[in-house]
Amino acid sequence: MAVSWILSYDRVPSNIRAWAKKHRRSLLVAAGLVGGGAAVYYGFRYLGLASQARKERDVARAALLQREAEERAEAQLQSHFESIQRISDTTTLPSMLPQLKDRLFSKVDLSGLTEKLILGKEDPQSLSQREKMQLWQELKTLSFVRTVCAMSALSLLDLFIRIQLNILGRHVYFDTARDFMNPEDSHVPLSMSVQHKFIAYAGYLHHKGLDALVGDVNQAAEIVLRSKPLKEPYTLDDLRDVFMRIRATLDSKRSAWVQYVLPPDNVLPDDLSVASSADASNPVAEMALNDNEVLDQLMNETRAVLVSNEFHEVMAVCVDSMLDGVMEELYAIYRGSSDNGIPLAKLLPPVAGAGSALLESLDDNRFIRILADLPQVHAFCALVYTNSSEETLA
Ligand SMILES: *[C@@H]1O[C@H](CO)[C@@H](O)[C@H](O)[C@H]1NC(C)=O
Ligand SMILES: *[C@@H]1O[C@H](CO)[C@@H](O)[C@H](O)[C@H]1NC(C)=O
Repeated sequence: MAVSWILSYDRVPSNIRAWAKKHRRSLLVAAGLVGGGAAVYYGFRYLGLASQARKERDVARAALLQREAEERAEAQLQSHFESIQRISDTTTLPSMLPQLKDRLFSKVDLSGLTEKLILGKEDPQSLSQREKMQLWQELKTLSFVRTVCAMSALSLLDLFIRIQLNILGRHVYFDTARDFMNPEDSHVPLSMSVQHKFIAYAGYLHHKGLDALVGDVNQAAEIVLRSKPLKEPYTLDDLRDVFMRIRATLDSKRSAWVQYVLPPDNVLPDDLSVASSADASNPVAEMALNDNEVLDQLMNETRAVLVSNEFHEVMAVCVDSMLDGVMEELYAIYRGSSDNGIPLAKLLPPVAGAGSALLESLDDNRFIRILADLPQVHAFCALVYTNSSEETLA
């Protein structure tokens, strides 16, 4: 993956630092505002009216103060960035997972199939051979579909929330700076209502986008699994190969991830969208107008990120590492088994079970931790956070 930003992932702090240099003035102001030290920045210019020696000392002193202020501003930017990532990992994502899991498990329902098969075993008359085969085929496909969907959906939701929070974080940070620098500026900062409406889009995946994702994964899984007999023994590598092929088939359709997380034209279904806070006591109708435009712009930014190559690349890295995590779970069932592998039919319950593990135990989900620890994810977030076209601030 010869892409510069991915190669530079070990230099995330320095990326942010470079960016901080470029936006020095606004950062200093923002930092000063919060840290109460804006005077340091403005003060040094007016120092030194006395003797030359004194002047030089003052200039040196001012330079030192400025450097300190710059360092503080950079550190503050860095810590603001870190706090955004933490909020995403520990609060926002876990709060959305239960709905995602419920929706996925009701769309890819395995319990009905297994019940029928168990009944068929107890009462051999109840199922014809053909029906039984049919049920097994379905169980085979859906077990993989559930887990591949869980891997993709968790990665998608994780990245989507990070994109949103980093875009928001950047805007909020600069609103603060801008207000301070240009009090007369007519610019209206992001209202809470805009922020809420923006965040509401994170629900689109489980609400609607999942249907399309399940459909696409199902098609891919059917193609790959159609010719695989249930009795055939699979080694761990064979099993990984099946997952890889489903992924490759999915990728070959070049289905853009964006369609699973954003509605066409950015219009949320009614039951998802947050009602406009157009209470009668709010006299500013213009404000609501402005809100729509701001939201429109935020959504355009989000969409631009989602269709970018950078996003596709980091998404691939995430799904790969989810697959590694799943294979680690499955490794356990191979311990003590013969080298010849395990019949595919016997692998279906643990394969489907990995899908549950991906979306469960919210306070300590190892898959969320894997994503949070990926340096590529950090680099990507830093890119989104610092992807500023707000040159007016520079
Ligand atoms: C957002 O994108 C749409 C479609 O490309 C465009 O018509 C609209 O003007 C954009 N809105 C803003 C605020 O940039
Ligand atoms: C950066 O911004 C540009 C233009 O606004 C956009 O096209 C691009 O996708 C963005 N990239 C990232 C990673 O945010």
